[in-house]
Amino acid sequence: MKKNRNILVTGGAGYIGSHTVVELINKGFNPVIVDDFRNSDPKVLDGIKSITGKEALLRVVDVTNKKQLKAVFEEFSFSGIIHFAAYKAVNESVDKPLAYYRNNIDGLLNCLELAEEFNGLNFVFSSSCTVYGEPKDIKVVTELTETQEASSPYGATKQMCERIISDVHKSGSPIRLLNLRYFNPVGAHPSAEIGELPIGKPNNLIPFINQTAAGILNELIVFGNDYSTEDGTCIRDYFHVVDLAEAHIKGYEWLNNLDGPKLETINVGTGNGSSVLEIIHIFEKISNESLKWKFGPRREGDIEQIYADTSKAQELISWSAERTIEDAITDAWNWQKKLGNE
Ligand code: UD1
Repeated sequence: MKKNRNILVTGGAGYIGSHTVVELINKGFNPVIVDDFRNSDPKVLDGIKSITGKEALLRVVDVTNKKQLKAVFEEFSFSGIIHFAAYKAVNESVDKPLAYYRNNIDGLLNCLELAEEFNGLNFVFSSSCTVYGEPKDIKVVTELTETQEASSPYGATKQMCERIISDVHKSGSPIRLLNLRYFNPVGAHPSAEIGELPIGKPNNLIPFINQTAAGILNELIVFGNDYSTEDGTCIRDYFHVVDLAEAHIKGYEWLNNLDGPKLETINVGTGNGSSVLEIIHIFEKISNESLKWKFGPRREGDIEQIYADTSKAQELISWSAERTIEDAITDAWNWQKKLGNE
């Protein structure tokens, strides 16, 4: 293992970023968070401190501002970058495609240019199963499954970012590159000190369920009941956000031990799918709450079912999810109870 423990974590105050920062600190790394809080809350820093006992370093910088970002590279010597900072709401991306392309592509380009300028660092990219689009026939996808047209501008930005990363690798760049294709990370830290903090009305299922049960939202609309699945609702590969954070650590350590440039892409999920109705039932059992919900029309851009073949994660970086969906829903609900009606 090379000695430099400084890692730049863009978007480190966000949902997945903050859980990863905690695991990095626990493993003896020195994460430096770059975040401008446009979609996160500074109080996450207090949560990180109460879990780890350490103050995470923070620079309030917009990753699309190369001058500001470069100043952070000049201040610290990094062994690499974990690049989370990006927009991620599928619906919003349909309404604001330019904002999504500008933000997600510029942020990546700046990080990669600076990684090259500063001598080829390790680079982990937050990708998504959205790059597969609606998979043909098979629903369990491997990293080699052919990608289909993205179902949203958000998905297209992830495909484009992976393409840029691939071209950078082909050009002979010294950067060691890893794309992590996340399936559906959910849950919160078991301490209930950090978790998901959606700004405004949440788009994703678990925060929507939690806020409905907490009385913040009236009822959950289950988007569609006529899919070709057993109960008619969509199936996703949900897994615990702390497992995802650990996948970043394992992926990063793997990159850090390489001798030269490399590009790999890994699915991060469990290989098991749950339907929306199954998730509701698990939530009701765990929380002892009766959730107000009803069926509504399908959501545009939704994929019927997709889950990960995770053998590559196991083989390459020795990672597999350790926590159950019940653990994730329990932790998410405890986090919501701590937030109260916020
Ligand atoms: C989507 C993207 C994922 C992205 C994530 C970030 C795809 C395949 N997935 O996840 O890449 O990282 O957004 O935001 O593009 N649901 C309801 N009612 C609700 C909310 C959700 O029924 O109010 C259902 C959805 O129809 C879906 C499931 O719950 O079947 C999960 O939805 P969500 O949590 O939004 O995740 P994805 O759409 O899978």
